[in-house]
Amino acid sequence: MSRILLTGATGYIASHTWLALQAAGFEVVGVDDFSNSSPEVLNRLQRLSGQAPVFEQASVCDAAAMAGIFARHRPDAVVHFAAFKAVGESTAKPLDYYGNNLGGLVTTCQAMRAHGCQRMVFSSSATVYGDPASLPIREDFPLSATNPYGQTKLIGEAILRDLGASDAAWQTACLRYFNPVGAHESGLIGEDPRGTPNNLMPYVAQVAVGRRARLSVFGNDYATPDGTGVRDYIHVVDLADGHVAALQRLLNQPGSLTVNLGTGRGYSVLELVAAYAKASGREIPYDIVARRPGDVASCYADPALARQLLGWQARHDLDRMCADSWRWQTLNPQGFTQA
Ligand code: WQD
Repeated sequence: MSRILLTGATGYIASHTWLALQAAGFEVVGVDDFSNSSPEVLNRLQRLSGQAPVFEQASVCDAAAMAGIFARHRPDAVVHFAAFKAVGESTAKPLDYYGNNLGGLVTTCQAMRAHGCQRMVFSSSATVYGDPASLPIREDFPLSATNPYGQTKLIGEAILRDLGASDAAWQTACLRYFNPVGAHESGLIGEDPRGTPNNLMPYVAQVAVGRRARLSVFGNDYATPDGTGVRDYIHVVDLADGHVAALQRLLNQPGSLTVNLGTGRGYSVLELVAAYAKASGREIPYDIVARRPGDVASCYADPALARQLLGWQARHDLDRMCADSWRWQTLNPQGFTQA
């Protein structure tokens, strides 16, 4: 049985991937410093998997700690989630983002090399496409970044590309996420942003549950069917399954890859609001306000390459994304902090 090290393991996407990897027969070791997640996630994973999580509290930037973790657990591959991910925050704190996201990636790769582990699945983002000239977006489209967070994903991909070019023994899979949303069907784990949510669905969820009064819709004058921003929302469980498929390919075939993980279907802000109101049975009051700087009008994936290379495609629709998000929100109105 292959042993997989997950960094950022108690985060939103990583915790769902942890369950998917166990269900696929992998042994999992989790690493997290809880800088943006809660230890309560470990209790929830134990309830869901029936196994005591194998976990190490550490920062991926701590070379000595990472060396100890690799020596103790000897993983066959790494899924690297550990990174800060707020676009706006990255503009205010670029050094924190470059230090943590790129410093952490390099430190992890150095520990991998020192311990003969040369397979990594890397958490990348559709943000590397900037403002696409056409749609749907394919992996060979031009890449650009308009903020430090996006730069750390672009440079992270370049680091892994250079690593593979220097030594063919390195195999990497860069997964470009579109817009992850939803939660595990149990409602025991889900997205738990700290402070005011930056992203649309968690904000809508908090309005629906009464934690926030109204949603601000950032502009309705885009060149889209209803004027509001269009995005490719993908269920976090589908995303987790995409990581399992990428890992299985790295372990069973030579070579590296970069693929989009999206549904190929875009929905507008107002379409998502309507779907959430239907799923929750709650009104979602909103105001149209000014555009948010840096937003693009539309962004959605061409998911054909992931289907071709991984045999993977998204299975959950928007109604299911909203229903699973709502169940998580109602069972955990204050997120993990209430535990
Ligand atoms: C979606 C749509 C907003 C909030 C970001 C990052 C990306 C990835 C996913 C990390 C847009 C509108 C939002 C609100 C709104 N993160 N909106 N009111 O900006 O597409 O992507 O998160 O990997 O890298 O860039 O997602 O959910 O913030 O916005 O009207 O309160 O909802 O304008 O059209 P985004 P989002």
